[in-house]
Amino acid sequence: MTRNPPTSPDLPCTLRFFLFILTFVLNTARRSNGTVNRPFLKVFDSKASPSNKRDVKTTDVMVDPSRNLWFRLFVPTTTTTTKLPVIIYFHGGGFVFFSANSTLFEGICRRLALKLPAIVISVNYRLAPEYRYPSAFEDGFDVLKFVDTENFEGFPSIADLGRCFLAGDSAGGNIAHHVAVMAGEHEFLKMKVIGIIGIQPFFGGEERTESETKLKNTLILSLEITDWYWKAFLPVGEDRDHPLVNVFGPRSDAVLGINFPASIVFVAGFDPLKDWQKRYCEGLKKAGKEVYMVEYPNAFHGFYCFPQLKEWSLLVEEVKDFIEKQSAAQ
Ligand SMILES: *[C@@H]1O[C@H](CO)[C@@H](O)[C@H](O)[C@H]1NC(C)=O
Repeated sequence: MTRNPPTSPDLPCTLRFFLFILTFVLNTARRSNGTVNRPFLKVFDSKASPSNKRDVKTTDVMVDPSRNLWFRLFVPTTTTTTKLPVIIYFHGGGFVFFSANSTLFEGICRRLALKLPAIVISVNYRLAPEYRYPSAFEDGFDVLKFVDTENFEGFPSIADLGRCFLAGDSAGGNIAHHVAVMAGEHEFLKMKVIGIIGIQPFFGGEERTESETKLKNTLILSLEITDWYWKAFLPVGEDRDHPLVNVFGPRSDAVLGINFPASIVFVAGFDPLKDWQKRYCEGLKKAGKEVYMVEYPNAFHGFYCFPQLKEWSLLVEEVKDFIEKQSAAQ
């Protein structure tokens, strides 16, 4: 008798239950006509106010009120003299869900700010399908320009803009990549982007990969869900070989400028997207870029939301090393 390999990780049942509920909520909020039931989602997407607790001070900074573009600034209060790197963070949620003040993502940024330590800037970019491509990329890039040129109130003097990293999970990892491409073609005054931290970045294409087929019904992500997200974010009528999705695919020119920085990419064994993420790393390598891939065999899509998992602590250590390495190379 042959046994099929497992298609889901071994998880504590409270965590499994939480994932089940989260999947149910996100699925119910997605309407079959391609729109989102925002009032329904609001009930479950709890928000955190800016605060000064647990050794991290947070403030919200407005960039452009006409499109409600703002970011949440996380400053660890445990160190006051050492210069800290700056991480510009893009939250996940399929380009469609959550915001910079969602409790789930504010927790991730708070923990990163404290543990690395680093100054974290979490971008509240506009969401699809109300705002499709390229709104999120433009919002991200405009925040970089704002941080570079405006001496805004509350920006700590210990922030080292010469050591800037773009980070994101899932759809946020896709945004980090594309914003890095835009940043590489721009002359900043002080800012220097020296690394990309891609946590299970969301890439894809028309082709179905082996991991997508094998893991097509996992919690949080299924093929039906990823297809829906792309449809919500892509320009109307476009397919998944658009270069925003299939970065090194048949329609991409795959030319990355000399200023495109080094990357670290986190991949999980039970993530249906893992084959696309591996191809992304191969594409970066072929383009002559420095890239480190870290794989956690027992992790699933979204593992980084759960600090109780050992992979979370491992990730923090890897990111720390990556930041040190790229900083030393300056
Ligand atoms: C979260 O952000 C939205 C604006 O994007 C705002 O309306 C809401 O008041 C914020 N909530 C908290 C608790 O900060």
